[in-house]
Amino acid sequence: MTLDELPVPPPSVAAHPVEIGGLRLANPLLLAPLAGVTIPALRLLYSKLGAGAVHTEMISCAGLLVSERQSRRRNNTGDEGYEIVSPGSKTERMLAVLEGESPVIAQLFAGDAEIMARGAECALGVQSKIVALGINMACPMPKVLKKGAGSKLLERPEVAFDMVRRLVALGLPVWPKIRKCPPTLPLTTEAFCEGLLEAGAATVTVHGRTPAQRYTGEADVSLLPRLATLFPGKVCASGDVFSPERAAEYLNGGCAAVMFARGAIADPFLFPRTLAFLGYEVHNKYRNPSPDFQLSLLLDFGENVCAGSGPRIAVLMVKRLLSGMFKGLPGIGELRRAAAHILSWKELRGILETCEVYFERREEHSGCAS
Ligand SMILES: Cc1cc2nc3c(=O)[nH]c(=O)nc-3n(C[C@H](O)[C@H](O)[C@H](O)COP(=O)(O)O)c2cc1C
Repeated sequence: MTLDELPVPPPSVAAHPVEIGGLRLANPLLLAPLAGVTIPALRLLYSKLGAGAVHTEMISCAGLLVSERQSRRRNNTGDEGYEIVSPGSKTERMLAVLEGESPVIAQLFAGDAEIMARGAECALGVQSKIVALGINMACPMPKVLKKGAGSKLLERPEVAFDMVRRLVALGLPVWPKIRKCPPTLPLTTEAFCEGLLEAGAATVTVHGRTPAQRYTGEADVSLLPRLATLFPGKVCASGDVFSPERAAEYLNGGCAAVMFARGAIADPFLFPRTLAFLGYEVHNKYRNPSPDFQLSLLLDFGENVCAGSGPRIAVLMVKRLLSGMFKGLPGIGELRRAAAHILSWKELRGILETCEVYFERREEHSGCAS
């Protein structure tokens, strides 16, 4: 059975629309931007699992402009007649949107408002399906910080606010994502959010860790309801969403939406389980997915990654999701160990297609087989 023949898990936008950050979405559970992870095939998978909207990986505005210049040189067009990104370039692949994806928010990063605005124009020229422009003001990694981008912008509020104003002028909702501001920064998290919203941001996503924490320790979960009270309907939550209960806690605290990041990678079915927990009607196929269904999802996903990003990435991504799938099934450990050393997508696909062997073998060992 193919995915298309299966019942759609979440209610449609028409059935239960929610207004978040200038968008009409089917539900408030969003796939967070994840560099190296939220490629189109993965976004499609999570759209099918119920994500109300999905984010691209963070995309470099400087990179977009380089691609544009190269393309213009190749096409020998003038400044006005730009063709923008060369076919098949990495940037174009990052901006690709597959049929069936939930609304896609393109997340951009830059260290300066002019580059941000020009990069955003390029992105919109390449991809008309983008519904909102995200700005990364959260990334704590040195290679982004040294460009003055990501969470470095928390040290330069005026640049950050200017970026928002410049992108608002392009006509799409603007979705900056920040981190909790420690006392060493010029503004508190509250004041930074206020500045972004005054500049015209449609919503602000806050990850309740400071940049110095990176991904260690715990996110400050209590910060989000405080912000949501100050800015009703304008705050999205990120940080330590590994369970339906945590997502509900953020929403009950007044957050407009919740972003799923590492939790969704560790457990792809976290989306449908959370939707069910929140009271959405979710087909049992998604709440209690059978091994066959999980396998069909994984194979479909692998094929899509292969088509868009190549077989090497397909192997990496499928192995990554495999560790969160088939939870509790006897024999799954053996299957994962067998998959671990595989480098070719064809071989991995073969192992997955015959994976019942692992499950049966385990049953024989445990004496379950008749
Ligand atoms: C591998 C990885 C890549 C990430 N890439 C981005 C990114 O490109 N842009 C961004 O704003 N945040 C990025 N994040 C942060 C997540 O979107 C999220 O805010 C963070 O993981 C906290 O949520 P969690 O604790 O539920 O995982 C990334 C996180 C991880 C683990």
